[in-house]
Amino acid sequence: DNCVENKIFDYDFYNRVDVQKLIHQYGSPLYIYDENILRKSCREMKNLMQYPWFVANYSIKANSNMELLKIIRDEGLNADAISPGEIHVLLEAGFEPSQIFYVGNNVSVEEMKYAIDNGVLVSVDSLSQLEAFGKINKGGKVSLRFNPGVGAGHHEKVVTAGNNTKFGIDSSFIEEVKQIAEKYSLKVAGVNQHIGSLFLDGKPYIEGVKSLLAIAGNFQDLEFIDMGGGFGIPYKKQSQERLDLSLVSRELEKIIIEWMKVYGREVQIKIEPGRYIVAECGVLLGTVHSIKTNYGKRYVGTDVGFNVLMRPVMYDSYHEIEFFRKGKLLNSDKRGISTIVGNICETGDILAKDREIPDDLMEDDIVAVLDAGAYGYSMCSNYNLRLRPAEVLICEDGLVRLIRRRDTFDDLMAGYR
Ligand code: LLP
Repeated sequence: DNCVENKIFDYDFYNRVDVQKLIHQYGSPLYIYDENILRKSCREMKNLMQYPWFVANYSIKANSNMELLKIIRDEGLNADAISPGEIHVLLEAGFEPSQIFYVGNNVSVEEMKYAIDNGVLVSVDSLSQLEAFGKINKGGKVSLRFNPGVGAGHHEKVVTAGNNTKFGIDSSFIEEVKQIAEKYSLKVAGVNQHIGSLFLDGKPYIEGVKSLLAIAGNFQDLEFIDMGGGFGIPYKKQSQERLDLSLVSRELEKIIIEWMKVYGREVQIKIEPGRYIVAECGVLLGTVHSIKTNYGKRYVGTDVGFNVLMRPVMYDSYHEIEFFRKGKLLNSDKRGISTIVGNICETGDILAKDREIPDDLMEDDIVAVLDAGAYGYSMCSNYNLRLRPAEVLICEDGLVRLIRRRDTFDDLMAGYR
């Protein structure tokens, strides 16, 4: 009666499937992804700029599920890796070494070697790491990650440029960089940056690119300039505007074309989006197990603990939340304030604080956390020896496919064998 046909906002997603059945079949909690939405986001990023030597690298830390990676590769994106593990998974997913860019941070010599031996280009992040690279790969090609002095992001923990972060080479060290490169006959093939994660206004990104271009002018053999990721999505559907991609792209084209005239040669232009590609194609489903009032405060207890979605706890992140009963959206007018929590043994295990939700919510209803595709599963853990959930894909044809099984008790014991 208080249920309506499933409809979330203005796009078609899990109204193509029965969430109750999915939970029944694959267990709760459960990550579900929509292939149509994933492909659409890939195309938006791949076609961000008209420039013919434009390349989009997907930053797989946002979501490294092998089946999603195959779709992203099929859409013509290349990829960024932060670790040998990510390089390994990318190679397994069919990416060529030349399509992978290793943007590490504080890496060991062994890790650099792993990338080099696999034919993967390495970005270095400090003068000492450039020395280390030169020692093991004399005469090799390298990319330099600079800190352009401008940062942006949804939380201070994810601002990765400016004067309060460990990332990048300070742009005042260009002479030192050149000396080290010369000492080891290194070819600086690229300069890269990443100013931070999630901007909905392109201004800081464009400022960062301007600084990076000024830095790039100091290197004569560049093959590419990588402007970084950080393209945001509106997690708050009612109040946040979508990032105006065409505006960002027009601005970028203008300054890049100007720069190339001065540089005298065309170079490849890259971006490294993670979140934008995968956030909106994912929903995290869970189950309401308990509703209670504790000293006047109403709590909705679910199985969506911070072991399955870390973002709210780590960054106070907001995700839209919906509830379902018997496969239908709960849409009651009578609403009240509750705090939605998980099943982890910590008071901070809060999925959504003081959220207005339907009053008639009951145990066994299903909770759906929207825009959970990025930094959701990839940040999952087995804390409290909880099993990481399964992941399923709603394919283009509407069929549902299991793309990673849920953990088992055997997985919890695997490291002891
Ligand atoms: N490139 C580099 C070098 C990065 O460090 C990152 C993200 C990206 C690209 C992709 O950024 P994106 O386009 O996804 O914003 N766990 C946090 C986000 C951490 C981002 C880390 N670096 C969250 O859940 O909001």
